[in-house]
Formats: sequence, C-alpha cells, structure tokens
Amino acid sequence: MKNKHIAFIGCGNMGNSLIGGLLADGYDNALITGAETDPARREAVVKRFGIEVFKDLQSAVTRADIIVLAVKPQIMAGICGQLREHLQGSGSLVISIAAGIELDSLGHWLGPACPVIRVMPNTPALVQSGASVLVSNSNVTAEHRNQAEAIMRAVGITLWLEDESQINTATAVSGSGPAYFFLVMEVIQKAAMSMGLDASQARILTLQTALGAARMALESESDTAQLRKQVTSPGGTTEQALNVLTGAGIERIFADALKAASDRSIELARLYGAQESK
Ligand SMILES: NC(=O)c1ccc[n+]([C@@H]2O[C@H](COP(=O)([O-])OP(=O)(O)OC[C@H]3O[C@@H](n4cnc5c(N)ncnc54)[C@H](OP(=O)(O)O)[C@@H]3O)[C@@H](O)[C@H]2O)c1
Repeated sequence: MKNKHIAFIGCGNMGNSLIGGLLADGYDNALITGAETDPARREAVVKRFGIEVFKDLQSAVTRADIIVLAVKPQIMAGICGQLREHLQGSGSLVISIAAGIELDSLGHWLGPACPVIRVMPNTPALVQSGASVLVSNSNVTAEHRNQAEAIMRAVGITLWLEDESQINTATAVSGSGPAYFFLVMEVIQKAAMSMGLDASQARILTLQTALGAARMALESESDTAQLRKQVTSPGGTTEQALNVLTGAGIERIFADALKAASDRSIELARLYGAQESK
C-alpha cells in the first residue's frame, strides 16, 4: 500500500491532518500530491510536508492510484465533474470525506464504473485520534478497502458500515460528537470557576478527567454503565451530581440531540446530492 500514489483534492483542515498522518505513518512524500486553490494554504502545505501541491486538480491526479476528495460538500459536484474524464478506465479509487454526499451521487458525477468509498471522519483526526466510518460502492474491491482503511487508520480508528443509511447515525455520534464533549467540558469548567477554581485549574482538572475517563472506558472490560456505578458510592458526592443530571433528563436531551444531527445529515444529502440519483 505504501507504494500507491495518493492525491488530495483540498488541503484544508482534513486534508492537512490526513497528509500529516500518512507521513507520520511512514508514507513517502514523493508519492503524495495535493490540489489546493488557496495560495496561502498551498504554500503552507508544501512547506510543512514537502509534497507537491498544485493549483489545478488535473495536475495533482495525473499519477494517482487513489484520489481523496477533501473539499466542502457544496462544491463536490463540480470537482467530480472535472475528474470524470480522467477517471474513465483509470481504475483509480476515489475516497470522499465530504459530509452528506451519498455514494449514488458520487457515482452519478464520477461515472458508473468508478470505485468509490465514502468516509465520515471527525476532527480528532487532527491529533491522530479520529474515528472514521467507511462505506463502499459495488465497484470497490477488497484491495481498495484495505487501501482506504490504511489511509484512515493513519489518523485514528476505522469502522466499516454495510448499510450507507447508518452513516447518518454515525455522523450524529462521531462526526458531530467531539462538539458534545467540548460543550460538556466547557460547562464543567465554567461551573468549577464559579465555585472557586481559577481558569487554568478548572481547565486542567476538567480535560484530564475527560481524557482519563475515555481511556478507562476504552481499556476496561467493563461497559460505561458499570464504570459509572463503580465511581458512584451510595450516599456519596457523585450520586448527588448524577441525580441532578438524570433528573434534568440527560438521556432524553442526548437522544433528541443525536436525532437532530442525524436528520440534518439526511437533509444535507438531499440539498447537495445529485438530483438524478434520487
Ligand atoms: N473538518 C471536519 O471536522 C470534518 C469532519 C468530517 C468531514 N469533513 C469533511 O471534510 C471535507 C473538508 O473539510 P475541511 O474542514 O478540511 O474543509 P476546508 O478546511 O475548507 O478545506 C477544503 C480546502 O479545499 C480548497 N478547495 C476548494 N476548491 C478547490 C479545488 N477546486 N481544488 C483544490 N482545492 C480546493 C479550499 O480552498 P478555499 O477555502 O479557497 O475554498 C480549502 O482550502 C468537507 O467535505 C467536510 O464535510 C470535515
């Protein structure tokens, strides 16, 4: 896999983190190219990673075995249209990380024979701690799946979905999820400060506790409900706090929040997808 040529269309937040992750994982920078329209970003990527970055996408994909589409969903139809001719008979794998753009739309824009993998990553990919879900169209081979997995594994964990509709739920969980945890950390810090800690004390105690809880949950054989019970002694302080949270309906609040995110994901697919593929 490390001898495949990979082209990134769009070298913004996600493009940068994926390129950085691949290089950290031992990929040869001579085998990675980029296309980026923003001149300042183009220069920054060349400087940071020592890869070739072009203004136009045709130059970036000339030798590509794998093309990663890392541009905003709104412009995906136009980008795919520019690639369609190049892809005819090329056998190149296309990986799209755009939120809300379905495999049918990508196939419609890129051509019916194109192997396409749709990925929903999340921002912790920026620190190699991402969670990506992947789903493929019927032109994709086992080798393509391994290639896509190797790219996404460079920035975190990967999970395949068999049914594309599950990506809406995954988007609500892992795609949008970092923001829920940031919000929880934010409000804990504010409460801690209002109760007498200074900002840096509140920050470090909150963030280290979040990290420790996540690590414990990942490494433990117990599920999260058991871990919660283990730190909740009857009549103790944690029980008092949890009573407030459950009494305020935390379960319903998160169920409603995830449903709202999933509904928006479905709506975005309708807004930006190919009408003809519907
Ligand atoms: N960021 C996330 O947390 C996240 C999570 C999951 C999925 N995603 C998906 O990842 C994709 C990229 O997101 P991002 O946050 O990395 O966006 P971004 O930072 O805006 O990066 C996209 C880059 O592509 C450039 N670009 C636009 N048109 C181009 C073209 N024709 N050729 C080459 N480059 C072009 C943009 O330049 P201009 O600014 O000049 O247009 C921009 O620098 C999106 O589809 C998003 O849905 C992002």
